[in-house]
Amino acid sequence: MKKFMLPLAIALMAILPARADEGMWLPALISQRIGDMQAKGFKLTAEDIYSVNQASLKDAVVLFGRGCTGELVSNDGLIFTNHHCGYSYIQKHSSVEHDYLKDGFWALNRGEELPNPGLTVSFLEYMQDVTAQVLEGYKPEMTEEERSQLVRENSNKLMRAARDESKGLTASVEALYYGNQYFLFVFRVYSDVRLVGAPPSSIGKFGGDTDNWMWPRHTGDFSIFRIYADADNNPAVYSQNNVPYHPKKFFKISRAGVKEDDFTFVYGCPGSTKEYITSDETAYTAEVSDPQKIALRTKRLEIMKKHMDQSQAVRIQYSAKYASVSNAWKKWQGEAKGIAKMKTVATKQAYEARFKEWAKGKRYDGVLEKLSSLYKEYIPYYRAYEYYNETVRPIEILSVANMVASFKELNISKDLSKAISIENFYKDYYQPIDEEIFVSMMKALGENLSEDMLPAYYKEQLAKYGTVEAWKDSVFSKSIFTDKAKVRALTAADTTLVKNDPATLMYNAFNEWQRNTLRPVVVKLNSKINLAYRDYMQGQMDFQPEKNFYPDANLTLRVAYGKVAGYSPADGIDYRPVSTLKGIIEKDNPDIFDYNIPQVLRDIYAQGGHEDQPVCFLATNHTTGGNSGSPVLNADGNLIGINFDRVWEGTMSDIAFDPEFCRNISLDVRYLLFNIEYIGHAAYLFDEMEFVD
Ligand code: ARG
Ligand code: ASP
Repeated sequence: MKKFMLPLAIALMAILPARADEGMWLPALISQRIGDMQAKGFKLTAEDIYSVNQASLKDAVVLFGRGCTGELVSNDGLIFTNHHCGYSYIQKHSSVEHDYLKDGFWALNRGEELPNPGLTVSFLEYMQDVTAQVLEGYKPEMTEEERSQLVRENSNKLMRAARDESKGLTASVEALYYGNQYFLFVFRVYSDVRLVGAPPSSIGKFGGDTDNWMWPRHTGDFSIFRIYADADNNPAVYSQNNVPYHPKKFFKISRAGVKEDDFTFVYGCPGSTKEYITSDETAYTAEVSDPQKIALRTKRLEIMKKHMDQSQAVRIQYSAKYASVSNAWKKWQGEAKGIAKMKTVATKQAYEARFKEWAKGKRYDGVLEKLSSLYKEYIPYYRAYEYYNETVRPIEILSVANMVASFKELNISKDLSKAISIENFYKDYYQPIDEEIFVSMMKALGENLSEDMLPAYYKEQLAKYGTVEAWKDSVFSKSIFTDKAKVRALTAADTTLVKNDPATLMYNAFNEWQRNTLRPVVVKLNSKINLAYRDYMQGQMDFQPEKNFYPDANLTLRVAYGKVAGYSPADGIDYRPVSTLKGIIEKDNPDIFDYNIPQVLRDIYAQGGHEDQPVCFLATNHTTGGNSGSPVLNADGNLIGINFDRVWEGTMSDIAFDPEFCRNISLDVRYLLFNIEYIGHAAYLFDEMEFVD
């Protein structure tokens, strides 16, 4: 009998779902995964990925700004990231005379590169497990508050010791696994980062919100920057004397292309995931939170769209706002659907039942019950908090009132930075949209929060004015913030006027509700929930010692690996993993804003020979927000693409990864090269890159 056992086990393994592409692994611990990576085709070693003793791939990856990733591609500090990551910088350089967003921007020599105040890139110098140091002095009888205090103090000590301003070194201590483990991350931060190139938005944002989170995709989502350093290659503030930064490592570019099943590997900074939450929290997210936020944003988007369709000027004013509102709106829809389809809540409930059985008599006994009761207490407050975020904060007149009220002194026309923020606000402000959003959001707040959760201020205003419309009319007719000229002319003598403006009063009343009624409860319960999660997390690890756990994303550097693969989103549909220029031409339509490509691209295509030009590809790497701009590498560690999105049907990967539906979307690096050559006429940039084919 025995001799049949092995083949049977292997046969069984073959039919188990290929869950192995799930995971965002810590580079410093990648030696634990390297065997699996190599078995799947990777040809390098753990030391090649991460090393503190020698240059490794990690030295070619940067945190770009505060929420994206970028990668070094030359010995002179050239970096690639996404167009949507460089967007706000490209926008800041744009004016009516030079509309770089619309027309693209290409420096034709280094002297033409544009500095970007405020933009930084951060290199990870090293990461280190500091759990023992962070918890030094901890006693089990401590309260969670005392423990937090201790963790803060010990972390501060470690960070102070690791920081070195003269070398541009900053440090942070991050909790992993709900504080079961702590890691110190030391970064070198460069702040002279210049814009080198960006395609026109009709390429870099091709497909816009229509195609966002979708496949087939044809977005040329890239922009190019360069890092500058002082004469010693150290970080320095912008100066004309700075020179291109010479990295320890940069990626070589492969033009060999991708095909189904090729090994791929994404090295970047994923922002936030919640893979180990309970069924309760999952159900709240997918069945309450996502749907309510989607409904509120649907209303806002409809209002914006109506006015944007009526006026070209309004469309320009609100296009970035619309894009940012709709991005999460669309993601949540995919997430809620994906969790329902995967039956994640039921799967988690079944898992929890097994866990409870196993935990009997162990230190984890009761932890799930505790989480469940804490969560019940938490939800009404958290739900109201989410309502505050999605109904009060979108009212723009309140935010400008708060901005002005927070200026220490009112001399707006004299103080350049204040004057600029005021100008920026009004440049993109259209009052009819704001008035409609006010009415729609305040109605939704009243209809959806129970009487006892609604702030007293809200009830008073309704009692006073009778209807939300009348309340709105009063605010907008009396507030000075509807009048840009009046706001510009404000001086110190107007402090009381600003303080008593109806928009300021409304902002303050809601803010106080949020700060004094909701937040304290949310924060207090959060700390208890976090403590229980810390136990539950450790419990899950003890319960499944054979499972490979990875910490939730927290914007620290991670490795995800998988393979190029299409998917089948629904019965009768099979998606292939590669898109081409032919598809762009098929979508091209001068009458549809999202699909109106530049004439030059039509002309190039018409000349022939570019039908098969690859544009984007799909793979099974586990990624999330923050991974945008991440290098996508092949088995040899060479650059084949730039990550920029996921497919809609797989956005539940932040909570549960389904290998059947979760796909990351990457720009094929060859389309970037195509753009440099044919759109930017900046082929001189190829001289500093290294190609391996
Ligand atoms: N969905 C991608 C991400 O979450 C891309 C967003 C930018 N594109 C857009 N059309 N809004 O960042
Ligand atoms: N588009 C996201 C980003 O900007 C990536 C994702 O959510 O998959 O980071």
